[in-house]
Amino acid sequence: MGLSGRRLLVDIDADEVIALLNKAFADEWLAYYQYWVGAKVVKGPMKESVIAELLQHAADELRHADMVSNRIIQLGGTPLLSPKEWMEHSNCGYDTPVDPYVMEILRQNVDGERCAIGVYKKLMDITKDKDVVTYEMALQILQDEVEHEEDLQALQEDFEMMMKR
Ligand SMILES: [Fe+2]
Ligand SMILES: [Fe+2]
Repeated sequence: MGLSGRRLLVDIDADEVIALLNKAFADEWLAYYQYWVGAKVVKGPMKESVIAELLQHAADELRHADMVSNRIIQLGGTPLLSPKEWMEHSNCGYDTPVDPYVMEILRQNVDGERCAIGVYKKLMDITKDKDVVTYEMALQILQDEVEHEEDLQALQEDFEMMMKR
């Protein structure tokens, strides 16, 4: 099926979907880098388990960027071509890990995941029954983001328990 066929499957303005996908695409790259560089600088108790989790999440965010960019191209759009555009288009922004303390890095990333969950929920609401392919992709990514938030919260709980005893 060619581009027009794929566009015909979309019962809303494809350009509107492409714009939203590009915003999510910017979020994914920024999330990828925030996790990746966070894993490099993080310090404190339980550092090793936190690093392992951050690197796994970084890999997932990069995979999400790949999925989102593929959908943008299918719809006839172009993924943002310059990192400069990521900050301009991002929904969730970038939380610079200036404080390398484990609990602070975890908090920043939990906030990021909560934002990402909102972004994909909104994308699902907008594409429901109108652009099934984008809807299904957003659902898959949303499931990962929910899991990410849970994983980070489990680490926060372990950390708090360790500090209490
Ligand atoms: Fe993601
Ligand atoms: Fe995530």
